[in-house]
Amino acid sequence: MRRSLRSVRGPPSAPPVESLAPLGWFDAAWYNPIMITFKNVTKEYPPKTHALAGVSFRIEAGEFVSITGQSGSGKSTVAKLIFAEEKPTSGHIHIGDWDISNIRHSDIPILRRQIGVVFQDFKLLPKKTAFENVAFALEVAGESSKRIRDVVPHVLKIVGLGEKGGRYPRQLSGGEQQRVSIARALVHRPKIIVADEPTGNLDAITAREIIELFTRINDFGTTIVLVTHDRDIVNGLHRRVITLREGKVASDAEKGKYLLA
Ligand SMILES: Nc1ncnc2c1ncn2[C@@H]1O[C@H](COP(=O)(O)OP(=O)(O)O)[C@@H](O)[C@H]1O
Ligand SMILES: [Mg+2]
Repeated sequence: MRRSLRSVRGPPSAPPVESLAPLGWFDAAWYNPIMITFKNVTKEYPPKTHALAGVSFRIEAGEFVSITGQSGSGKSTVAKLIFAEEKPTSGHIHIGDWDISNIRHSDIPILRRQIGVVFQDFKLLPKKTAFENVAFALEVAGESSKRIRDVVPHVLKIVGLGEKGGRYPRQLSGGEQQRVSIARALVHRPKIIVADEPTGNLDAITAREIIELFTRINDFGTTIVLVTHDRDIVNGLHRRVITLREGKVASDAEKGKYLLA
């Protein structure tokens, strides 16, 4: 199903963001987003930190969900469990029909092709250009140089950096660097994007542009899990909000607000 895109709002300084639709990136016939299920998930870090205690929720395919809560409430732990950087101490996590609670090390790359990950600090390689940073994600996955030449300009265009592939991270603004990292997260056409505090290093206007980009990616069916403690962002989204408090789900609200003072 194709949906028309809303026009992009934003200040005139905003980099141009191409409409995703004509780029044909997410609307291939086979493209099915998948759901994420946490069943009674507990995570303990030795010796005795209970980062999560009995967390259950289901994120439907194609949803845009914010995970919020104060520092230390367990948000990043939820993110790490979804992309299998950590394993739960008990309970079950399903990505689609796949129970990843005890995922084998050798299967982690297969999972990571379905999940794009975005971090607060961008994690770009400083000695590689924007193009090379994105290309690197394909190289390590063993993709051919022809495929790399096809895909990289495509995803850079999606994030509005079609003209800046030759720049090094130090020659890009924070918002542009985050766009490069989002482009890198898109290279395998992920079914899920998990973003842990992606706007934490950005000013408010740039943050809004990055969130707008996520909503546009979500418009094409990609499930988005946005971890953020930023109340303005959560309240501006009018989407589902799961609030954690001390490792438990304190509330789970459709079109929610960040209620904590
Ligand atoms: N690798 C770790 N080892 C020990 N404790 C950890 C580790 N990672 C997180 N924690 C602890 O788990 C709790 C939840 O952390 P985290 O999920 O990072 O919270 P948030 O992202 O909401 O700030 C905190 O008490 C934190 O100190
Ligand atoms: Mg965190």
